[in-house]
Amino acid sequence: MLSQAKKVVFSDDILQDPYPTYSRLLEEGPLHYVDVGSKWAVWSVFSHVECSAIAKDPRCSAKRAQQMLLPLPLSRQAEFTELARMLGLWLIFMDPPEHTRLRKLLNKGFSAAAIEALRPQVETIVDRMLKPLQRGAEVELMREFANPMPVSIIAEMLGVPQAQQERFAHWSRAIALFRGSPNRTVEQAHAAQDALIELTAFFKETVAERRRNKGTDLISLLIDIEEEGEVLTEEELYAQCIALLFAGHETTRNLIGNGMYTLLQHPDQTDDLRRNPEQIRSAVEELLRYESPVQFTARVLKEDIEICGRTIPQKWSILCMLGAANRDPKKFKDPNQLNLKRLHNEHLAFSAGPHACIGGQLARLEGQVALLNLVQRFPNMKLSGPRPEWASTFGFRGLKSLSMTL
Ligand code: HEM
Repeated sequence: MLSQAKKVVFSDDILQDPYPTYSRLLEEGPLHYVDVGSKWAVWSVFSHVECSAIAKDPRCSAKRAQQMLLPLPLSRQAEFTELARMLGLWLIFMDPPEHTRLRKLLNKGFSAAAIEALRPQVETIVDRMLKPLQRGAEVELMREFANPMPVSIIAEMLGVPQAQQERFAHWSRAIALFRGSPNRTVEQAHAAQDALIELTAFFKETVAERRRNKGTDLISLLIDIEEEGEVLTEEELYAQCIALLFAGHETTRNLIGNGMYTLLQHPDQTDDLRRNPEQIRSAVEELLRYESPVQFTARVLKEDIEICGRTIPQKWSILCMLGAANRDPKKFKDPNQLNLKRLHNEHLAFSAGPHACIGGQLARLEGQVALLNLVQRFPNMKLSGPRPEWASTFGFRGLKSLSMTL
């Protein structure tokens, strides 16, 4: 019999190191009723097999933008209808048939060939950002590299001037703080709504300019899709630009930060990687598994569904705990050991099914170029300052800061 007692997973303490809690819960079973703050609890699956099945199940809807308002006081939710409406236009919150058509069109911009063609640009940006850093220097890596680097790349893909990067990073953070907070506040919701309104105005101008001067960037591709009379309306077009900026930034900064922190804690394996740079592909897969930048995704049940022996009623949300699934001993040998040479690493860091990350190949490319460059340029790098703290966002796992001596 499954217990309906609420399990605590998203407390500040546990977020510093959630893995012992994941292990304990996984030992008890794959399904738990998890406290998500503000008196809410949500059924959540922790095992690899269940997370993968739910992410692929057509009876589970990805339309959940409205649900994000639930932790806010009932009397204030009406102030944020625009926030929920704008988020609802993002690909990640759509269901078929709209999702299927839009995804197929966007896939063109993210094909393996399109991403591989970006390699020289990624290398140039990484080189430009790392060049001023000297061996032996003290740096705060999140601020100086991990945060601005992915914004530069996505700005380049969208054909947006580098000068806009700081505004981009600021807007993206405001949305991340709202999405990633267990006890979302009215202030966070206002900041996220304002960021979305400002980003929409920004992309409205950029799209108008790009219509006059089309190039080979992603916005020009999206305009072509819209002009061909496909699913995209003008407003959906801006929404996808915003979603790409956001998704391409918040997650990849954490792949680089979490990856670097993990490498610094495993100097022998890092030395091995330095000597054998061809290991970087398996190393990045393992870092994605070991410290997944996205710890869960969510779905809303379209009908009553039996999950792990319990019937969960329709309209209820369910969390797929990707970070726990990536440490599931039924799927991975020695799941709590880092093994940069791990083979057949079928992690769920990018989820699975129709919503599996469209930017996975780009993230891999950025992670490989950034981490290998850091490891090779700075053979004596080490942690400095106090032990880094994890941000107390849930959903996104990343460090507040990472002080190192290069
Ligand atoms: C390490 C970096 C990244 C991680 C860990 C990550 C993770 C994820 C996950 C877990 C999902 C699926 C959510 C679900 O099943 O509900 C997702 C979807 C998505 N990601 Fe990523 N992502 C990363 C980088 C990127 C990048 C670089 C981009 C684009 C520039 C991107 C764009 C998207 C988009 C548009 C979706 C929605 C796809 C859909 O709904 O069809 N991501 N990502």
